Amino acid sequence: LKEIIVEHSSGKYPVVITNRVYDILSEKITHFKDHKFYFIIDSNVDSLHSPVLSKYLKLKPEARKFILRAGESSKSFNTLNKILADLASNNYQRNTLIISIGGGVTGDLAGFAASVYMRGVKLVHIPTTIIAAADSSIGGKTGINFNGRKNIIGSFYHPEFVITDPQFLKTLNENDYRSGLGEIIKYAFLSGTSFYDFVYDNFNKLERRDPEILEEVLFHCIRLKADVVKKDEREAGLRKILNFGHTFAHAFESASSFRIRHGDAVNAGIISALHLSYIKGLINKNDLNTLLKLPLKLKIAQSIKKLDKSKLYSIMQNDKKNTFNEPQFVLLMEPGILLIDINADKKEIFEAAKSLNVIS
Ligand SMILES: NC(=O)c1ccc[n+]([C@@H]2O[C@H](COP(=O)([O-])OP(=O)(O)OC[C@H]3O[C@@H](n4cnc5c(N)ncnc54)[C@H](O)[C@@H]3O)[C@@H](O)[C@H]2O)c1
Repeated sequence: LKEIIVEHSSGKYPVVITNRVYDILSEKITHFKDHKFYFIIDSNVDSLHSPVLSKYLKLKPEARKFILRAGESSKSFNTLNKILADLASNNYQRNTLIISIGGGVTGDLAGFAASVYMRGVKLVHIPTTIIAAADSSIGGKTGINFNGRKNIIGSFYHPEFVITDPQFLKTLNENDYRSGLGEIIKYAFLSGTSFYDFVYDNFNKLERRDPEILEEVLFHCIRLKADVVKKDEREAGLRKILNFGHTFAHAFESASSFRIRHGDAVNAGIISALHLSYIKGLINKNDLNTLLKLPLKLKIAQSIKKLDKSKLYSIMQNDKKNTFNEPQFVLLMEPGILLIDINADKKEIFEAAKSLNVIS
């Protein structure tokens, strides 16, 4: 069992990494005796893990369970409405504890619901994907997609605690697992060379879901994210480095109507951002070729290569991270040294995105 404390402007909370998730959950919820529990569970997680899950849900027989249809389309007003209506019609009051069990979609939506219901009720995250464990369950960003755009409605809202159990990752299908590795690759670029080398050298083991390597990698990512959140919770500066590859990635996701997985989009976004770093003169050709080796260990989704470049550009112009209509990027000088708020013109962006077509 490992624990990392996440500090933020109004308090702190622990992220526990364990392979006894339900025991730790039962133990921790004893501190919330006077609360009424509401589980929001991803539908795939519910069916794959329901025998064990239901045993623990019985600890609180009066608790309700909302099964969230798996997929990005659930991060919507429509589903939020259903959750809020279910809470209200079942007489959930301020002493509500919402427990989200699932990936980034479940966590983002459950977190947003918790932040607005009764002006904020208590929240717990149990992440079950790599992206949720390494990234989305930490740092308090919640939200839904709106008008075809990612995460443009949301809030900052922190949980009481997070319990991460790498055993959940065993049941992820190949595509979801691979997509999660895209986010790990991002963390490798954000860290100094030692973690970058660790991820690079152990990539085969990571792909094989080696439990020790996975735990080590998750621990490092969570610690890094906690450190960034502590220094810049509201993304005034430093936190923006977490968006490495994301200006491209969000455009890939939106242009494909969210059919491309987030981590796949992030990995392709990193490849484009590395090319843009080269185009901007931040790295030389040799560095570019060396740095591309890590993201190229993952297969690039064919569907990304087919996206219309002009559509991508107009989505980037509307990215919520921009100050005006100029797309902004996080670019890299070397692993661990990144530059934020870098503008690029249409020609440079097209050239960087074009690199995905030539890479096979
Ligand atoms: N809030 C943040 O800071 C933040 C950071 C990064 C990403 N995100 C968001 O996270 C989302 C992507 O997260 P994700 O990749 O976890 O997506 P997801 O929640 O859609 O999960 C991916 C798939 O894995 C399935 N799944 C989940 N756990 C499983 C398990 N243990 N076994 C088998 N299948 C399982 C789900 O049913 C789903 O089909 C995006 O919406 C993204 O915007 C948020």
